[in-house]
Amino acid sequence: MAERFIGLMSGTSLDGVDGVLAAFSDAGRPTVVGHATADFPPALRAELLALNTAGDNELHRAALAANGLVGVYAGVIRQLLADAGLVAADITAIGAHGQTVRHRPGEFDGLGYTLQLDNPALLAELAGIDVVADFRRRDVAAGGQGAPLVPAFHRAVFGRADHTVGVLNLGGIANLSVLPAAGAQGPVLGFDCGPANALMDHWCQTHTGQPFDAGGRWAASGQVRPALLARMRADPFFAKAPPKSTGRDLFHPTWLAARLGDDASAPADVQATLCELTAAACADDLRRYGAAAQELVVCGGGALNTHLMQRLAALLPGVQVMSSAERGLPPQQVEAAAFAWLARATVRREPGNLASATGARGERVLGALYPA
Ligand SMILES: Nc1ncnc2c1ncn2[C@@H]1O[C@H](COP(=O)(O)OP(=O)(O)O)[C@@H](O)[C@H]1O
Ligand SMILES: [Mg+2]
Repeated sequence: MAERFIGLMSGTSLDGVDGVLAAFSDAGRPTVVGHATADFPPALRAELLALNTAGDNELHRAALAANGLVGVYAGVIRQLLADAGLVAADITAIGAHGQTVRHRPGEFDGLGYTLQLDNPALLAELAGIDVVADFRRRDVAAGGQGAPLVPAFHRAVFGRADHTVGVLNLGGIANLSVLPAAGAQGPVLGFDCGPANALMDHWCQTHTGQPFDAGGRWAASGQVRPALLARMRADPFFAKAPPKSTGRDLFHPTWLAARLGDDASAPADVQATLCELTAAACADDLRRYGAAAQELVVCGGGALNTHLMQRLAALLPGVQVMSSAERGLPPQQVEAAAFAWLARATVRREPGNLASATGARGERVLGALYPA
């Protein structure tokens, strides 16, 4: 009998919440039953963004922001249930990612941390459904990066028996999964490539007043500045070998400002260069770590950035670059569906991480269960 799970993802773009209601066959294959989204109210978005850096009275503010986040989560759940004509009792569990505000695994003599704001107890109370939350910390405790956690899901949904597939998620940060053909040598890899929308959104908002560069049209109107691109690509993160992960801790507006120099006077060129940075870093990583890939499945909101998609295709001759929609799952649903899948794994006491992707000492059952 099919079991239903809800996945809730709110990523580093801070654009809001994507929710997916998915039904799973006994074999674990998901079918998306519904998708709902909610933007963050501007004050909550501003506070979540502010909490990415050190500030006054953070513990109190973080607790209130987590409650605000859960209010948005609860609204998405109500919407998903109403659209599907289902009730709380029809859902086995919710996987709630929470909002990452700090991500520093592997630092501090190997006892680093990753921090997702969330209040799963409140969510269980409001939704009347079991909640699985705090997926990343167990992987960090086991020596991993705590990220990316989506490769196992990518393998289950996008993996191919006959050839290697790359899956590129373009959220606030870009992450790549390399899925070898079944029976081929080599493990599944998964790691962060660098910034995707986090810096492009920031620059676009600052100079055009728009929250993101729709279709990449503004970037397409500018010229890539090679010296600026080189200054950005000189950051040691890009040359580091996987496993590796990053976040707004590194790729924040100050990082960009420190590299702009005189190029700041040409905002459209900076946008073009930021877009090229994402395309070039991801294309290089695919060539280095997934050279056998014949197809690159792109998901996350960045898949809707036509200019970025065209740049990826141009930098990867011989690779078929496509939106995940062409493989049956629209780009905005992939990560939320992954957290429904990860919640199912946890409920079944199955591991959710891949040690080959996160660098953890082994596979672990992730997260904690908050019964309804
Ligand atoms: N039509 C579009 N054109 C270009 N970029 C888009 C479009 N729609 C969404 N995006 C980008 O996708 C981002 C959201 O992607 P998402 O996958 O939700 O990231 P995250 O997981 O970090 O929240 C937005 O902030 C925006 O930058
Ligand atoms: Mg998002």
